[in-house]
Amino acid sequence: MTTNIIPIISVVGARPQFIKSAALVMAFSGFPQIVNSTIHTGQHYDDLMSDVFFDELGIPSPEYRLATGSGTHGAQTGAMLIEIEKILIDASPRAVIVYGDTNTTLAAALAAAKLNIPLIHIEAGLRSFDRTMPEEINRVVTDRLSQMLFCPDGISAANLRAEGISDGIHISGDIMVDTFNIFLSRAREIQPAILGQYGLTAGQYCLATVHRAANTDNPATLDSIIRGLAESGLPILLPLHPRTAKALDSAAITIPSSIIISPPLPYISMMAAVTSAAVIATDSGGLQKEAYLAGIPCVTLRDTTEWTATVATGWNILAGTVSDDISRLVATHRPSSPRTPIFGDGAASHRIATAIMEVFGLP
Ligand code: UD1
Repeated sequence: MTTNIIPIISVVGARPQFIKSAALVMAFSGFPQIVNSTIHTGQHYDDLMSDVFFDELGIPSPEYRLATGSGTHGAQTGAMLIEIEKILIDASPRAVIVYGDTNTTLAAALAAAKLNIPLIHIEAGLRSFDRTMPEEINRVVTDRLSQMLFCPDGISAANLRAEGISDGIHISGDIMVDTFNIFLSRAREIQPAILGQYGLTAGQYCLATVHRAANTDNPATLDSIIRGLAESGLPILLPLHPRTAKALDSAAITIPSSIIISPPLPYISMMAAVTSAAVIATDSGGLQKEAYLAGIPCVTLRDTTEWTATVATGWNILAGTVSDDISRLVATHRPSSPRTPIFGDGAASHRIATAIMEVFGLP
């Protein structure tokens, strides 16, 4: 048995975390000392929200699968915390990696911190400064507990320093750029098939997603968003998160004919739809970034965003949830300013793996 092995446990559970982990798992293959095992908490459990991403992005099957599923925030986070703690005690890794801002992130961060296992946070320092969002609480607590904080940009690093965090900050660039670059050519290959499947023409439709609790759990807000999209004059492709499907159903909201509903799309199909849209309308954080990377204007269906740099460039605009604002901006928001590489160069995963080696690879 070699003593210089660095056993690490990564914890994922929600769709965007599978996408982020794909790039890092690939980067780890260049660092044989790092032996990564993955816990999938089961926060997302539908095949189209989970296993499809492992299959198409070539992520190895998780070594540990929990079935914690849905629930209130406390119940969901608590159930994950109990199970993750058991695994960490048993496996005693040198470090735990968490991604982003979900309840999975928070549960794993608490489990690691209570066991004094160093915590590595990828996508650290993001702030929407809106503590009514569960994700903001998850970000603030996770960053406070982390020893290595990988920030996608200088703004997020500055946010950490403003909160008094000074050690362990690395500006790595954004790991979603790595995944985007790796799979872009495959997305382009299937673009005609995806557009054909939904009867869309490149450059003449809006790709929309809505899944945030604040937008789905209030029927009047959800109705306003749907009307705003429908009245934009563009055909809308709306892949539906299960939360949104349930909310539309229980509020008995009728979908106008200009809105084409699809199931949640796998990553490469989604990037095919992103890269040929006229405009993107979304409340997702990840999609705001992917729109910027693809050079597609973004209309954000929220009053705040943690991805403030995309707004500063002019490519992303905060529309809120009033239907007239949404329809007007979806129809007219077409920025033309040059795009600079605000999320780094697509080598974040290599930088993260190298930094982990430097910290944990010493004898
Ligand atoms: C979570 C994250 C959010 C992230 C999103 C990505 C938190 C607090 N929020 O939100 O930051 O942007 O993932 O998609 O962690 N459901 C299913 N099947 C599934 C998953 C969810 O039916 O596979 C339904 C359940 O009714 C569940 C609801 O969706 O109650 C919400 O799921 P949950 O994982 O709690 O939060 P998301 O809205 O997905």
